[in-house]
Amino acid sequence: MSSLNIVILAAGKGKRMHSDKPKVLHTLAGRPLLQHVLDTAIQYAPGKTCVVYGHGGEAVPQAMAQYDASFVLQEPQLGTGHAVQQALPLLDDGGLVLVLYGDVPLTQPATLEKMFAQPDALTLLTLHLSHPAGYGRIVRDSSGNIKSIVEEKDATAEQRAIREVNTGILSVPTRLLRNWLAKLQNNNAQGEYYLTDIVAMAVAQGVAVHAVQPAHAWEVMGVNSKVQLAELERIWQHEQAHQLLLQGVTLADPARLDVRGKLVCGREVEIDVGCIFEGEVHLGNDVQVGAYSIIKNSSIAAGTRIAPYSHIDQAEIGENCRIGPYARLRPGSKLHDEVHIGNFVEVKNSEIAAQSKANHLSYIGDSSVGSRVNIGAGTITCNYDGANKHRTIIEDDVFIGSNTQLVAPVKIGRGATIGAGSTITLDAPENELTLARAKQITVPDWQRPTKEKK
Ligand code: UD1
Ligand code: CA
Repeated sequence: MSSLNIVILAAGKGKRMHSDKPKVLHTLAGRPLLQHVLDTAIQYAPGKTCVVYGHGGEAVPQAMAQYDASFVLQEPQLGTGHAVQQALPLLDDGGLVLVLYGDVPLTQPATLEKMFAQPDALTLLTLHLSHPAGYGRIVRDSSGNIKSIVEEKDATAEQRAIREVNTGILSVPTRLLRNWLAKLQNNNAQGEYYLTDIVAMAVAQGVAVHAVQPAHAWEVMGVNSKVQLAELERIWQHEQAHQLLLQGVTLADPARLDVRGKLVCGREVEIDVGCIFEGEVHLGNDVQVGAYSIIKNSSIAAGTRIAPYSHIDQAEIGENCRIGPYARLRPGSKLHDEVHIGNFVEVKNSEIAAQSKANHLSYIGDSSVGSRVNIGAGTITCNYDGANKHRTIIEDDVFIGSNTQLVAPVKIGRGATIGAGSTITLDAPENELTLARAKQITVPDWQRPTKEKK
């Protein structure tokens, strides 16, 4: 194939979404609908990718600025043929144009590849439906050759009985498309320039017209309302869960899993109910994730257990760690092997070396923690002075007593012990006991107050 141009139609208003946001920016599995289409399209490194947008001002081009795509405004919107016309000046000649839709997010690469198989033909993506209402119908002659597409509003009763429908997705040689679009008329029931009218033109000119079908009906389902968006979200989540099960992942309930991005799992991985995975998440062999955990852009190495209700964001976790329940690992947390992070412990921008433990109620921020360190319950690294952040360094084999504040910048030397309840503002020497707290006293003859009579 000499070149592949992709045109994505995304000018529709999406009135039934009842939202001020352009329809194609509503999210499915954590990404805008249009982003799904662009992510699929760019896999083919096409000659030109062109998005035709309409409503919402510059919101669509701005939201998709990271893509190497052109954006053309279609105003007013006079139909799908008119929409593709707006993109024509930007397309390379030679090769094919593939027309996709910003509100049809889940068309799979294998299906699109079928569309490119005939570089000299017009290829339509069609579907057989038992309830074809609302769609354009594929009209074939007595030998089964495609003759035209007729829109439902223009169809005869006989044509409405046809169950093969137009999904809208098609590929067409660019050179031919230019010719045909120039000849479009809008003398039809809706007064629109129909892209679908190019089918009859191809037939009249003796250009081959083929139809291919998607592997799954959901690949061509569009989103016009929040109802359809929610339905497609469930279909896609079900599909992703199914793929994970096929790979050998154990899911306590495939209906109670949400993957909003890419989840890569090793062998013997187990995931309990209600978990959400966002961005790119890697789970190594034998990893177990407890119920209602949320894991985003993180990697978790072999044998690690995540107990329920843990939140993990941009963290790197080593092998055989024990995390949670109710642990929170924030961006920049790097845990080496066999680290334990227990309930209500928050870690941020900190590296914790092997076999160290913070099991209860602590905040570890902007810190470097050595190996075999024990951080007692209620330990806080006071990393922020109200203006700047400072680092805490805790060397190997340190024991931090419970309810200790480490006021950064501060360093606790190798093998040091910090007495419980200390507020440490100066560096603590290696291998010594350091404590910083008022001495315990007992007040002689002290009396509890008694309630006064009125
Ligand atoms: C279109 C097809 C129909 C097909 C159906 C599948 C035509 C004439 N008809 O009909 O055969 O069965 O899709 O859903 O093509 N759009 C623009 N600019 C416009 C008009 C539409 O960008 O001026 C975009 C819309 O945002 C939408 C898509 O094109 O994403 C389809 O438009 P819509 O008006 O829904 O077409 P249908 O009438 O459903
Ligand atoms: Ca439609």
